[in-house]
Amino acid sequence: MKVLVSGGTGYIGSHTVVELLKSGHEVIIFDNLYNSKIETLDKIKAITGKDVKFYKADMLCPEEMEPIFKENSIDCVIHFAGLKAVGESVQKPLKYYENNITGTLNLVKLMNQYGVKRIIFSSSATVYGDPAFIPITEECPKGVCTNPYGWTKHMLEQILSDLYVADKDWSVVLLRYFNPIGADESGLIGESPNGIPNNLMPYIMQVAIGKLPELGVFGNDYDTPDGTGVRDYIHVTDLAKGHLCAVDKVMNTEGVNIYNLGTGTGYSVLDIVHAFEKANDVTIPYSIKPRRAGDIATCYADPSKALKELGWKAEYDLERMCKDSWRFAKMTLANE
Ligand code: NAD
Ligand code: WQD
Repeated sequence: MKVLVSGGTGYIGSHTVVELLKSGHEVIIFDNLYNSKIETLDKIKAITGKDVKFYKADMLCPEEMEPIFKENSIDCVIHFAGLKAVGESVQKPLKYYENNITGTLNLVKLMNQYGVKRIIFSSSATVYGDPAFIPITEECPKGVCTNPYGWTKHMLEQILSDLYVADKDWSVVLLRYFNPIGADESGLIGESPNGIPNNLMPYIMQVAIGKLPELGVFGNDYDTPDGTGVRDYIHVTDLAKGHLCAVDKVMNTEGVNIYNLGTGTGYSVLDIVHAFEKANDVTIPYSIKPRRAGDIATCYADPSKALKELGWKAEYDLERMCKDSWRFAKMTLANE
């Protein structure tokens, strides 16, 4: 298949491009490089031995995206491009609504115009809000999001679903990711956020390489086994492979299909700290801090629908996630 990957130089996008290339798909990436680096293309080539066609294009500028559709006969789009910093979205809601929603509208308008009616969208477990039940199935009602970032996912799911209501030629796959961590086993690509990280594993990696002194654990009084928040951490390579299965699905069905991509296992913040220490023989100093606004106690998936309908399930365990994160931190983050 010829797959257009928006946001393909980003964290999840780059890992997905690697898996697409390894399985013989032809890949075109577009990204505005707001939160990623052009060097990622060389790293993808080093890992796969294959070239990717790249367009530097901003979703907010349809004239930058249009040549992609004019010059290529695209089978489907995997749409990762978007802003994702939860805290910043509270401070700058218009930036998030404009980039993520207007940007996606621009993209799907062009898709419509060029008859490309197959899209896989990066949604998030954040759409469940404080989930009505655990483990979370796709039938769990969507909840109240606690930030504009989450609302963009919530609204874009609706917008993309409405495309199919209006035009039965559309096929839409909504993938709700849980907490992606880890890195490609090469250590060449991984997550490298700008500034002080907000997410747990990127923060732990900064502590591990000595760039930050200690981890703050946000609350130890939740109703969980050790009092710290529980999440469903999934290896980014497993997540990437889920997209390969989604490509088959989106090309061979019509309608709107929704899948949780998680492992089905919840780990606490302290489980992650201790697993990272054990897997890598390092010490992660930490101290308990107040709860972080908007956090929930527990969130993990029931991923059985993805197994049943996509034939996909996560394979890598927590030890592997921690080892691969550490390899990337040493090889790449430490030199940035
Ligand atoms: P990322 O920031 O690493 O990648 C997103 C890419 O989109 C970046 O390369 C950025 O430069 C690009 N981009 C942003 N705005 C753009 C625009 N207007 N035009 C063109 N390119 C633009 O993020 P990621 O972690 O790889 O996330 C990918 C997708 O998955 C996002 O939509 C994110 O919301 C979603 N998601 C991420 C997580 C997570 O924990 N990482 C969880 C659930 C869902
Ligand atoms: C995990 C756990 C924190 C940092 C976020 C988004 C969500 C999705 C994935 C995009 C929580 C604790 C964290 C730290 C800590 N992204 N923590 N100290 O909040 O589950 O999900 O990323 O869609 O929308 O909200 O992930 O990694 O920030 O936190 O104690 O310095 O680690 O309180 O329990 P979260 P996270």
